[in-house]
Amino acid sequence: MASEEVKEFTLGEDSELRFAAGDEDVCLELISGYAEVFGTELMLNKKYTFPARSRVAVFTWKSGTKLELVGPTTSAYVADSTPMVTYLNIHAAMEEARQKKEQSLHKPAGPRLLLVGPTDVGKSTVSRILCNYSVRRGRTPIFVELDVGQNSISVPGTVAAVLVHKTADVIDGFERNLPIVYHFGHTSPGKNLTLYSTLFKQLAHTINSQIQHHDDARIGGMIINTCGWVDGPGYKCIVQAASAFEVDVVIVLDHERLYSDLSKELPEFVRLTHVPKSGGVEQRNARVRSQMRGENIHRYFYGTRTTNLFPFTFDISFNAVTLCKIGAEQLPDSCIPFGMEVENHEEKVVIMEPSIEVKHHLFAFSQSTRADESIITSPVFGYCLVTDVDMETQSMTILCPQDKIPSKILVFSEVTHLDDQIKR
Ligand SMILES: Nc1ncnc2c1ncn2[C@@H]1O[C@H](COP(=O)(O)OP(=O)(O)OP(=O)(O)O)[C@@H](O)[C@H]1O
Ligand SMILES: [Mg+2]
Repeated sequence: MASEEVKEFTLGEDSELRFAAGDEDVCLELISGYAEVFGTELMLNKKYTFPARSRVAVFTWKSGTKLELVGPTTSAYVADSTPMVTYLNIHAAMEEARQKKEQSLHKPAGPRLLLVGPTDVGKSTVSRILCNYSVRRGRTPIFVELDVGQNSISVPGTVAAVLVHKTADVIDGFERNLPIVYHFGHTSPGKNLTLYSTLFKQLAHTINSQIQHHDDARIGGMIINTCGWVDGPGYKCIVQAASAFEVDVVIVLDHERLYSDLSKELPEFVRLTHVPKSGGVEQRNARVRSQMRGENIHRYFYGTRTTNLFPFTFDISFNAVTLCKIGAEQLPDSCIPFGMEVENHEEKVVIMEPSIEVKHHLFAFSQSTRADESIITSPVFGYCLVTDVDMETQSMTILCPQDKIPSKILVFSEVTHLDDQIKR
């Protein structure tokens, strides 16, 4: 890190320092005052090292806050206009709803908030801020991730939920302990819409039954993040998700038509709010998104700089496992005998013959013990990555978080990754 690149900033009330790291780490320090990164308070005089290409906002409520940045940045400026007060008001309304329910109901359930909007408007960031504020208020909300592309709980190609009882780490984000994960296997819902909606309905059902006996989780409520697909089938998914999770608040980020359409479609008890996006949110192209998915998979197996994980590499015989995938090719109508029902090909479970083609693909370890339709509604234990396939010895090499496989039923994911075996 070039020691000469030291910059100091003094912030006014309700303003934020926005910076983007270049190709090297950037170190942030709160010199005096008060500041937070996406809802997590910074400690005074602690050095926070952000990896290359991070995009960060350091917000303060307190005038005269001093921050220092060391390292090359592609941009670094102070913005006086931010939507943080709006986000704080949303949080305050959620907290008020919790308190009202606690006073009046026997088994109170907290508010359920759905965040929607196009890509690159800050949906994931706002979910993080709201979860953090809830935790700081002593609540344990459930964070639900319906974004199968940029998933912040598990690998890409999943829908997942996790109970948040600690504020996010400034660098690493939320802990991903004991999540509920369902396998989708694609990075866009459009690849199998029927399966996608079955999965989020199943996820809602599982959460509902688990919180029956968990008072803190129930009153904490839910903060549900979505992907940026808001047109046509994507819009329908939003409406279906609102109903499946029985949400009572929907926040639309930066999309007036979506707000207008939803206001006509959602039931009256749903509070719909339109919120502007922050001027700091970064636009990301397909290449950056794909790179971020790779980093996410790397993190799944190897952890982060501060929390290293040590995955195992070992061989498994084809005989020891059943490889399967969800979704079959659709037969043309002309091939279906008269009077036969058309199959639900999108949710058909097909056994896969092992082949060299599975190399570099992720596979889910299903919690189901049968290679049939039950794998769709069963959560997964976790994921492995096939790093090699040997057709001669009829075996494959996998990268796995643990030293033995937790299930013999392995479900194919379209998502690939090239394991570089490097701890970053
Ligand atoms: N106020 C801000 N200042 C600077 N950068 C920000 C700010 N808010 C968010 N970002 C950054 O902008 C990027 C995009 O934000 P975010 O991931 O929340 O958007 P999104 O709407 O969830 O995107 P996607 O369409 O991929 O789901 C992230 O790198 C985030 O760190
Ligand atoms: Mg997002």
